[in-house]
Formats: sequence, C-alpha cells, structure tokens
Amino acid sequence: MTASLQDRVAVVTGAGSGIGSATALALARAGAHVLAVGRRADALHRTAAQHPGIAVLPADITAEDTPRQVIDTAAGRWGRVDVLVNNAGATAVMPLADTDARRVTDLLALNVVAPSLLAKAALPHLRAGRGTIVNVSSTFGHRPLPGAAHYAASKAAVEQLTRSWALELAADGIRVNALAPGPTESEALTAAGLPEHTVTQIKQDETAAIPLGRRGAPEEVAAWIVHLADPAATWITGQVLTVDGGLELV
Ligand SMILES: NC(=O)c1ccc[n+]([C@@H]2O[C@H](COP(=O)([O-])OP(=O)(O)OC[C@H]3O[C@@H](n4cnc5c(N)ncnc54)[C@H](OP(=O)(O)O)[C@@H]3O)[C@@H](O)[C@H]2O)c1
Repeated sequence: MTASLQDRVAVVTGAGSGIGSATALALARAGAHVLAVGRRADALHRTAAQHPGIAVLPADITAEDTPRQVIDTAAGRWGRVDVLVNNAGATAVMPLADTDARRVTDLLALNVVAPSLLAKAALPHLRAGRGTIVNVSSTFGHRPLPGAAHYAASKAAVEQLTRSWALELAADGIRVNALAPGPTESEALTAAGLPEHTVTQIKQDETAAIPLGRRGAPEEVAAWIVHLADPAATWITGQVLTVDGGLELV
C-alpha cells in the first residue's frame, strides 16, 4: 500500500494567514491532523473553520520554551508528529545604512532560531515515525535582495539548515526539504510595516519581473509543500524547490 498523509500529524507554523493557512488546509484535506500555530488566535480560528482536521495553538514561536510546547501539544493530542512545516517568517526592508541590531536579531530569531528549536523538539517523534521537515525559504534565499539583505541572508541560512539536516538525519529515515516561494499573495508585506502605497508599488514591480506575469496564490505554494511532506515522496531529501513563476530564471 502506498504511504499517505492519512492520519499523519502535522505542525504548521504561521498558519493564520497566507502560505501557512493554505498549507494547513491542504494537509488537512490530504487526511492529516494539523496543529495550526501562530500568535493571533482569531486568524488561526479562521483557518481552522475551513476543516475539522485543524486544531489551533496560539503561540509566539520565538518565546522561550514555546517550540517544545508546540511539539508537546501536537504529540499529546494525537500521539505522534510526522510533519513539521517551518513556515512562520517575516521580511524586513532594511538597507545597510539603516541596519539595526535589534531588527536583525528579531528577524533571525523568527526565521532561523525558532525553526531550529522546533525541529529539535520534533526530532524524537520524527525519528519514531520516519517523518519529515519542510522549511519555507524564499526565492531570495539563493538570489540577492538589495535593500533587504538580512531577509535574504536568513533564508539562505534556512536553505543550508535544510541541506545539512538532510544529511544529518538521513540515517534516521527523516527527509528534510525546503520550498522557496516567489512573491505570493499574503500578509507579509503589510506585516513588515510598509505603508500601503509602498506595498502596491512592490507588488507592481514584482508582477512585472515575474516571467509568468503574476504573483502567486498561497494555494499554488501550499500544493508543493504537501508534495514534499507526503510520505510517498520517499526519494527526495535535501532539496530546495523554487516555486516562483520563473523569477529565478531572470
Ligand atoms: N509571500 C511571499 O511573497 C513570500 C515569498 C517568499 C517566502 N515567503 C515566506 O513564506 C512564509 C509565510 O509567509 P506569508 O507570505 O504567508 O506571510 P504572512 O501572511 O505574513 O504569514 C506569516 C505568518 O507567520 C506568523 N508569525 C509571525 N511571527 C510569528 C511568531 N513570532 N510566532 C508564531 N507565528 C508567527 C504570522 O501570524 P501571527 O502574526 O498571527 O503570529 C503569519 O500568519 C514566510 O516564511 C515567508 O518568509 C513568502
């Protein structure tokens, strides 16, 4: 019988909006029990309202001990953790001249440290069930992003964590891959604190630069996260899959 996501247990961070919300829903539709994690309870409940297979845990994953509590919550509820989707993340527009130590530290705490501690906490469960980790990088994890260098650097770190963990955990049968989305409709630009006219301008510029002529929809990214997480994807590990309408090519 082909392995499937039916009755597997998945933790999805940043599941209240954008790519994370679409991923939680797609995993639930594939039969998984999903723990949707994020800070805003109302946003998580909007995600969970779309499928009975989604439970919510409002939490700040950068807070001390929260990564362990997140994994313990999923394991306590369903008895296992098979899939960790490290999706929660933020961007920061920060030219070198404006570099601020606090903002760099906060960005790395969310984009690099928290996913690492979640993966650490999940490890015994992933070992027990030969589970998998999908890290969400960005097309800018492997191409330069002037004016937001620390965001690009944080995603480059995510890609190297992915490759290194893939080798480190291969003997345990744990697969580790990353999904690198291009510009996708979500709350990310607004959450970065950018004014509305700047958000509109960035979206127009991105649309003009993308060979397929449009920004992506969260569902178009989520579908590939689910493919990478699927136990049937037995022979893929350590890969960074770019889903960006061809932006990487130009
Ligand atoms: N959209 C794009 O164009 C794009 C492109 C490349 C890569 N990405 C990556 O895709 C991932 C998802 O982003 P998105 O585009 O879907 O943006 P989004 O809508 O802003 O989603 C990010 C999610 O992370 C959650 N989050 C932020 N800080 C958190 C914290 N400390 N603890 C727990 N949850 C936290 C947010 O919820 P709360 O505020 O409620 O906590 C939010 O739901 C990110 O890693 C992002 O870097 C996005």
